[in-house]
Amino acid sequence: MAVPADVAQRVDFLRAEINKHNQSYYQLDAPQIPDSEYDELMQALQQLESQHPSLINAQSPTQRVGSAPLDSFKQVKHVVPMLSLGNAFGAAEFEDFDKRVRERGGFSKAMEYMVEPKLDGLAISLLYQHGDLVIAATRGDGKTGEDVSENVKTIGAIPMRLTGDGYPDKFEVRGEVFMPLKGFQTLNIRAKKKGEKAFVNPRNAAAGSLRQLDSKITATRPLAFYSYGIGLVEGGAIPSTQKTLFEAFKRWGLPVCDQLVTVKGIEACDRAYQVLLEKRERLPYEIDGVVYKVNDFEQQRELGFVSRAPRWAIARKFPAQEKTTKLVSIDVQVGRTGAITPVARLEPVFVGGVTVTNVTLHNEDEMRKKDVRIGDTVVVRRAGDVIPEIVSVVSDKRPAGAQLFKMPNHCPVCDTKLERTEGEAVLRCGAGLYCQAQTKAAIKHFASRRALDIEGLGDKLVEQLVDKGWVKSPANLFELKQEQLAGLDRMADKSAKNIIDALEKVRLTTLPRFLYALGIREVGEVTANSLASHFGNLQAVMDASTEELERVADVGPIVAQHVVTFFSDRHNAEVIERLLRFGIRWENVAVRVLEDAPLLNQVFVITGSLLEMNRDQAKEVLQAMGAKVTSSISKKTDFLLAGEEAGSKLKKAQDLGVPILSESDFMKLIKSNHV
Ligand code: IVH
Repeated sequence: MAVPADVAQRVDFLRAEINKHNQSYYQLDAPQIPDSEYDELMQALQQLESQHPSLINAQSPTQRVGSAPLDSFKQVKHVVPMLSLGNAFGAAEFEDFDKRVRERGGFSKAMEYMVEPKLDGLAISLLYQHGDLVIAATRGDGKTGEDVSENVKTIGAIPMRLTGDGYPDKFEVRGEVFMPLKGFQTLNIRAKKKGEKAFVNPRNAAAGSLRQLDSKITATRPLAFYSYGIGLVEGGAIPSTQKTLFEAFKRWGLPVCDQLVTVKGIEACDRAYQVLLEKRERLPYEIDGVVYKVNDFEQQRELGFVSRAPRWAIARKFPAQEKTTKLVSIDVQVGRTGAITPVARLEPVFVGGVTVTNVTLHNEDEMRKKDVRIGDTVVVRRAGDVIPEIVSVVSDKRPAGAQLFKMPNHCPVCDTKLERTEGEAVLRCGAGLYCQAQTKAAIKHFASRRALDIEGLGDKLVEQLVDKGWVKSPANLFELKQEQLAGLDRMADKSAKNIIDALEKVRLTTLPRFLYALGIREVGEVTANSLASHFGNLQAVMDASTEELERVADVGPIVAQHVVTFFSDRHNAEVIERLLRFGIRWENVAVRVLEDAPLLNQVFVITGSLLEMNRDQAKEVLQAMGAKVTSSISKKTDFLLAGEEAGSKLKKAQDLGVPILSESDFMKLIKSNHV
């Protein structure tokens, strides 16, 4: 049926009106009509579209409410990689960066920088073709991301169609999806009312919302977006500076942050940082530092990239946030290895982007050293993803008679008498898997993402399974029946089946994962990896003596002893045997992927400060070439990578005759291996 011309016109008009109001609302933060009128426009458009479906197109504002759920996200290759940023801690490190920029680029004058807030959300790439949004992808590992177009279409701040003109035929806009604080708070109030778990911080909420397979859910989440860069460009040109790019973004209807400044020279850079630091608390969104970018794109091109970060930009993170609150009580927790940890219960305090209510006090000695008492006012600090800590006690606020906490003599869970090993600060319950607290922690660890990664087996479920006496060791998990699970609290048949399926799936794992999952004391992922690649199979690890274990990179006498103790325990050996009988298996050779790596099994230590990348990046590069990176120099070390101002490690390497690589040797090595 042909669509009458006046209907088509009315539809165009409504769409233009709605887009205009979206822009006033999201970009200019200046709504021109009340929400109710906006809703009426939307309803009118929806009605016309449902009467004349041929008029519906992907760019219509009605398409922003989400569509049918997906089974999985498609992968998207980033033709122009999505980079990350190096970090400068403090003004001095930023000065070093500026010096490198000027020296490398041969720029004699003070550099012009764009100073932007470092938004705490997730990077996203938006592909626009002839002005229409066609694909939105997450950063992923920088080379390949996930196609989250359906979700991104529900974010009102992101234009489905660009305005103005002069944009390239095909280009990618890069920016940050984030959740403004107000929206985050409302979302959490909503979650609490429904008895759902609250999000820990706006960043997690944004990430969780964007990675929903059901875009109808994303549509209900208050996400926002700021553009800050460009990826692929075809059929057209973009402006020549970051500043004019931002101006163009605005003309094209793309939201940009309202706190951008261009400055010249390092003093002005520092001032801009101080200004934002001071404003931080009052901004309606979370930021965790500033990003400095060389403003001129020609200069950016001359500077180029190192590994995964540009040489022309750097992030300067804000210092950890601190707040004071009251310590209400102290009690103890039993950890996976039986360690008894005193935990402070606090009056909730919002610090570093999360609400903190519990803080570990580590052990009795720590507690005494800080002189923490019940009823004290304490200073709490939290930086980035680091766990919160009590920095100090505000002594003049101590109430009269504030009590010290006395550590118990018996395990609060299984009542076993606690022991303290000579020379160790930690008090322990030695009951192992006979203590329910340790069983719960062991199973949670076994199932966790970096261990066996058993999907759906969350903490609450593990607790129920152990409380019921169904699960006493990881092996019991594989004996669970679907009917049994379906009978548990808040467990639907479908979820029970999913867990059984997940348990089936994880039987094929890798040796490093399995070793890590066993929860041997002090055997983290890195050590598990080293053990697997050194010995090649489980039996060899189990049979190894302490001397043999100490030959492995980053295994010292203490770890070696823990490994031997673990495998000589009869109960542990039995659990392993049963796990194998239940079909847990892995490909035999753990190191296969690295077989032809250029630095296979070479042991590196990194010291001093590197100019081209930070140490973590250098470590990644070395590992990608098959090397092992350890932290201390010994006879086992094959090379020391020494940056500037290397100290005692350099001396030790010289003493031991360990070959030393300078940073430029290292860069040559990378280049010759095309990493
Ligand atoms: S530019 C080539 N600008 O920080 C430069 N990133 O650590 C790449 N971020 O993945 C990014 N605010 O998620 C840039 N104003 C800003 C930013 C910003 C936040 C995030 C982004 C990126 C990460 C890098």
